[in-house]
Amino acid sequence: MKDLEIDNSAGKTTEAQVEPVHELRVDADPVGNQPSLRKGAVLGKTIDGSMDPIRATPPGGEGGNKGKEPHFHRRVGPENFEESLRKGVAVVRFNMIFVMLMTLATNVLILAIPVYLFQISDRVFTSRSLDTLVMLTVVICGAVILQAVFDAVRRFMLMRTAVEVAAQLGAPILSAAAHASLHGSGREYQTLGDLQQVRGFLTSGTLISFMDIPFAPLFILAIYLVHPHLGNIVVVSSLLLLLIAFINQRLTEKPFYQANLAQSRANLHLESMSRNSQIINAMAMIPEAVAIWGRDTAQSLTAQVRAQDRNIMTAAVSRTVRLLTQVGMLGWGAYLALNSQITGGMVIAASIIAGRALAPIEGSIEGWNSFLLSRAAYGRITKLLRGSKLQYERLRLPRPEGRLDVERLLYIPGGTKQVVLNSIAFTLNPGESLAVIGNSGAGKTTLGKMLVGSILPTSGNVRLDLMDLRNWDPRQFGESIGYLPQDVQLFPGTIKQNIGRMREDASDEQIHAAAVLADVHEMIASLPQGYETVVAADGSPLSGGQKQRIALARAFFGNPRFVVLDEPNSNLDAAGDRALARAIHHARENGITVVVVTQKPSLLSVVDKIMLLADGSVAMFGEREPVLRKLAGRKGGENGQQVSQQGGQANA
Ligand SMILES: Nc1ncnc2c1ncn2[C@@H]1O[C@H](COP(=O)(O)OP(=O)(O)O)[C@@H](O)[C@H]1O
Ligand SMILES: [Mg+2]
Repeated sequence: MKDLEIDNSAGKTTEAQVEPVHELRVDADPVGNQPSLRKGAVLGKTIDGSMDPIRATPPGGEGGNKGKEPHFHRRVGPENFEESLRKGVAVVRFNMIFVMLMTLATNVLILAIPVYLFQISDRVFTSRSLDTLVMLTVVICGAVILQAVFDAVRRFMLMRTAVEVAAQLGAPILSAAAHASLHGSGREYQTLGDLQQVRGFLTSGTLISFMDIPFAPLFILAIYLVHPHLGNIVVVSSLLLLLIAFINQRLTEKPFYQANLAQSRANLHLESMSRNSQIINAMAMIPEAVAIWGRDTAQSLTAQVRAQDRNIMTAAVSRTVRLLTQVGMLGWGAYLALNSQITGGMVIAASIIAGRALAPIEGSIEGWNSFLLSRAAYGRITKLLRGSKLQYERLRLPRPEGRLDVERLLYIPGGTKQVVLNSIAFTLNPGESLAVIGNSGAGKTTLGKMLVGSILPTSGNVRLDLMDLRNWDPRQFGESIGYLPQDVQLFPGTIKQNIGRMREDASDEQIHAAAVLADVHEMIASLPQGYETVVAADGSPLSGGQKQRIALARAFFGNPRFVVLDEPNSNLDAAGDRALARAIHHARENGITVVVVTQKPSLLSVVDKIMLLADGSVAMFGEREPVLRKLAGRKGGENGQQVSQQGGQANA
């Protein structure tokens, strides 16, 4: 009944809207095993009647729709990124064996044409037999066609391997990047681009050249069989080409590295430009932004030109070496033929074989940069996947009640010596609410993040229902809590999806219940498309305050037991403030533990406890009234004054 009073104070509240609140209060069982919104079938209809639901609600069945119960604590398998990497690499290895077999066949069949030449000059011309010529031609045609088929098959397989690798590793990489980005540099997501690079390399001509190289000895052997002198010429020039390849690598490694580094800087800058497009336009920062991008891009291009110049030069040298080799072989072969040691056909055949033997070496030199890029990309992928902690499955605990224990928290951000939080300790019982106040920079946001486990303390523990956050199953923990960050970002999608945390299995009842609990249902109802309003990546068409209230509903989605709200009213008007106060009140009625970080004093009248943070330490903590009195008594301090005004208001 208390709910009814509160809701009526909001103004025009219809019977249908009050009902769900009442229902919720009945349903929510603080110890609740499965929060059941079964009785809320009525409220499902309420939404269905006015909006167009994505998910059809089966009609009727008040208590009989057990299958519709929200799937809390759905088990997701353990995530073992190293295992995923191992599987991805295994796929490549396995396929590569077949590709190598195809390569072997292709390379052997390449010998068909030289052999043909050989035979023509050797047999056909000497025996003058037309039959032999026809037979030979048929066999050689078959071999050439077969060679083309094998070559196509290996390219098909490489392409499929590349796709398979992308499919196998894409999700683990994104998942690992999301985990790592919490403590990382924000570049983790670029690892997906690295996967693209690796995928591209798998289908490139460079890889095919690499695979052909091992067969060069086979060709060289064939040439030796023709004449040892010719074999020696090829061996010498192969060694020369390898030397050129090595020099090429030394010459181009550094400039290519610099080019890639500058390129990725330019890309990062581009990303931040797209995020800040409003500011850049409003403050006419386009020339500066473009200049920064241009500087990085120019650096990258300059380095690339330097590298490519050297690459082209060495490629030209190696091509010259190859052609000269062929000239030399023809010349020396002709000399040998003059001495009747070999036939003319053999000379030409040996020259063709030499060309085949040396071509892959040349191809490898040309594709050296893409190999370097891909090797670095693969290195980053393995580093990310190996470095990710094993996301093993943890024991599923009963649904938490919402008891929060914070023990001697110390936080010194990695790489700094600054103590952001120092010996913070407090306890909240299930259903209690705490307001954290303090000057800007006091560490309120940091504390909030720590309470929801998005950053880990340097030492100390945060416990929910006595269990350390680190030991909760992350998925179960995430479903049991709600978090409204200071910097609210919504996902591109409908309001409905955003409130439902983008979950496919979010039911209309749950979404409505969260909206009611966060007191945003009326605000959403006033939008032209209601819950189906599509939110863009930048939050349009919602205002800052509306975004914040949608995010508030998202925090309350799924009937969490513990909610952290970081300055939830920074963008709210008076009505929004009142709605927020009501939301916190509802939360308390539903036994939800709430920690609300605020700069505004207006929320203090609805919480049980207040904590004053100063320079990362607890300056004051206790029940609301004594703390408010103490704050009012404190003269001077900015906060004291601010809150003392509120003290009167709260007591009024
Ligand atoms: N990762 C970090 N590295 C260095 N300093 C940090 C880091 N995170 C927070 N800080 C510092 O901690 C202090 C508290 O920040 P914050 O929790 O955002 O304050 P509040 O929310 O109370 O305004 C600030 O001085 C900030 O510079
Ligand atoms: Mg803050």
